[in-house]
Amino acid sequence: MRKDRYVEIYNLVKAYPNPFGDDVKVVDGFDLKVRQGEVISVIGHSGCGKSTVLTMIAGLNPISGGGIVVDGHEIDGPGPDRAVVFQSPCLLPWLNAYQNVMLGVERVYPHASKQQRREIVEYSLSVVGLAAAMKKYPREMSGGMQQRVGIARAIALKPKMLLLDEPFGRLDSLTRMELQDVILEILDHEHITTMLITHDVDEAIFMSDRVCMMTNGPGAKVGRVLDIEFERPRDRAELLETDQFYRYRQALLSFLDECELEKDRLKSQKAQQAPKKEKTTVRERIAAIF
Ligand SMILES: Nc1ncnc2c1ncn2[C@@H]1O[C@H](COP(=O)(O)OP(=O)(O)OP(=O)(O)O)[C@@H](O)[C@H]1O
Ligand SMILES: [Mg+2]
Repeated sequence: MRKDRYVEIYNLVKAYPNPFGDDVKVVDGFDLKVRQGEVISVIGHSGCGKSTVLTMIAGLNPISGGGIVVDGHEIDGPGPDRAVVFQSPCLLPWLNAYQNVMLGVERVYPHASKQQRREIVEYSLSVVGLAAAMKKYPREMSGGMQQRVGIARAIALKPKMLLLDEPFGRLDSLTRMELQDVILEILDHEHITTMLITHDVDEAIFMSDRVCMMTNGPGAKVGRVLDIEFERPRDRAELLETDQFYRYRQALLSFLDECELEKDRLKSQKAQQAPKKEKTTVRERIAAIF
């Protein structure tokens, strides 16, 4: 197994049926290789197919073509080697934070001793800053705290890959920054290969080693990949003072702008190609009915 090809996504295709029953390739020919321990962000316009790619890697969404190899194994369905964190953590309301995390740990480590499982759960909750809130139920926690439990639940499985689909999307900007720091600290310690989907260009630069820019759908693929050459551990305030940060930001924003222009161009092309309807007055249309 080559560490520079820890995750290999080749010629990935996803087709969904449209309302007329025809298959439309939302994603077509998505190719990406991810190094072991690398953090890669995916950005692209809403609806281009980012979550579709992520859920296919998670094994939650069947692939229409191509393939995904993680650590030398072609994936075929979901598994604990790939942990997912979505926008909302979907905790079980009748279980406290500790029990919510334990649920997955019991399934993934059936042969571990009770003591070992307890240590895994306690460690995971403490690294997300919830050591003092393990007994709290979801209703007693803020959105940010619940999301921390979701992250703890994911890292407790010691996954080969962490898949984050806009995990901070529903949080206010302060909590968002706190959680970005929490995740960065975890990744600096655990070196988990991570894919982060985000709409936030600054977040993508701050968090990742590379940013993958997806083209518009249908038929979305990798448009461009930008290397983020800041060293780790990273300090937000320091990065914001560098010119390089703004050069990266400019590169990402201009890609998104180009996609937007392309979208508008296609829309107006379609409108011109559509057969022109003959203009009729309301009086004429009513007369045609009777
Ligand atoms: N189950 C489905 N059936 C049919 N079409 C779907 C299905 N799921 C997603 N799509 C379509 O596939 C396209 C990509 O959706 P996806 O959710 O992957 O986009 P996204 O890039 O994650 O968007 P956002 O940034 O808004 O989260 C969209 O056009 C969407 O309408
Ligand atoms: Mg999405």
